[in-house]
Amino acid sequence: MNLNTLEFRSDNCGSAAPEIIEALVRANQGCAVGYGADALTTELNSKLSEVFETKLRVFPIPTGTGANALALAATGTPFGAVYCSPEAHINTSECNAVGFFGSGLKVSPIEGTHGKVCPIFLENNLNSAGFGQAHKSQPVALNLVQATDLGAVYSTDEITHLSALAHARKLTVHMDGARFANALAHLACSPAEMTWKAGVDILSLGVTKNGGLLSDAIVVFNPDIANNIDFHLRRGGMIWSKMRFASAQILAYVENDLWLRLARQSNAAAQQLAQGIQLIPGARLIAPVQANELFVEMSATALDRLANQGVLFYRRGPELARFVCRWDTTTKEVEQLLTLIQTGLST
Ligand SMILES: Cc1ncc(COP(=O)(O)O)c(C=O)c1O
Repeated sequence: MNLNTLEFRSDNCGSAAPEIIEALVRANQGCAVGYGADALTTELNSKLSEVFETKLRVFPIPTGTGANALALAATGTPFGAVYCSPEAHINTSECNAVGFFGSGLKVSPIEGTHGKVCPIFLENNLNSAGFGQAHKSQPVALNLVQATDLGAVYSTDEITHLSALAHARKLTVHMDGARFANALAHLACSPAEMTWKAGVDILSLGVTKNGGLLSDAIVVFNPDIANNIDFHLRRGGMIWSKMRFASAQILAYVENDLWLRLARQSNAAAQQLAQGIQLIPGARLIAPVQANELFVEMSATALDRLANQGVLFYRRGPELARFVCRWDTTTKEVEQLLTLIQTGLST
């Protein structure tokens, strides 16, 4: 890190965990067949089936956007609609990759708080969707972002309730788990409880943001979806040829609970920051801090001061900042940021 800056822009800015780099070095021996027919990818399928306590299929994929768009493309028809929260990454930040890879799939935001889909609004939308009417996009999937794009976490009861509403109308439930391990660490439940046991059919499993290097994954719990997914991935140019290296990263990620250890570190840094911010007059958290992202309101002048003093963060509005803690964010960095916020607000 540059000594004159404090990095709070994104968990994407963090380093990769040494365990993952070591796994890549170990995988770099001899030859292995490409496109996922290798031994490490077979092992990855068994390992994640064990971790999630069910038979599943894993498809390592380069990006979270690709995982979301292709997972959703595999769930529906080109004239379908995907429900999500207004803040959902597929709605705000993926250049309509869902529509592109889904050959016209529509993203339909549903209101809620803290980046969640509200079950009442979901039910209202389902009731007025016009199923079977050729004039209307046909709802095909529900997208839940876990942890949400405002740093909150759905409880397993909330996921179960929303999934039941979606399944009652034959929608597929997709979880965008770009920060899956952060949410899992927060809930302290099992991966199964946060996914298929609560009704999730298909998951974008984030790895890169939480100490990974270059691979996320699509995890399919519902075998009906898995039948088509290879075709969507191949057509979208999203199948690694040297797949063993992608699989090696994800294997190392879950081995010995590395993913939880890394997520606990970034969550703990976020808690330290949140607790400090709550004590600073003039700064206000706009959503509960349950993972590793914080959204903080303060005056535009105070935010300008922070930026001028070398704090790297993203502005989500003139008076709204997003701070993200990485697995390798230190206690000292958090303390320095708190001091700068405090002095910026009191001068
Ligand atoms: C919630 C969420 N989903 C998906 C993504 C997309 O990941 P990528 O940038 O790897 O495409 C991000 C990235 O910031 C994200 O925050």
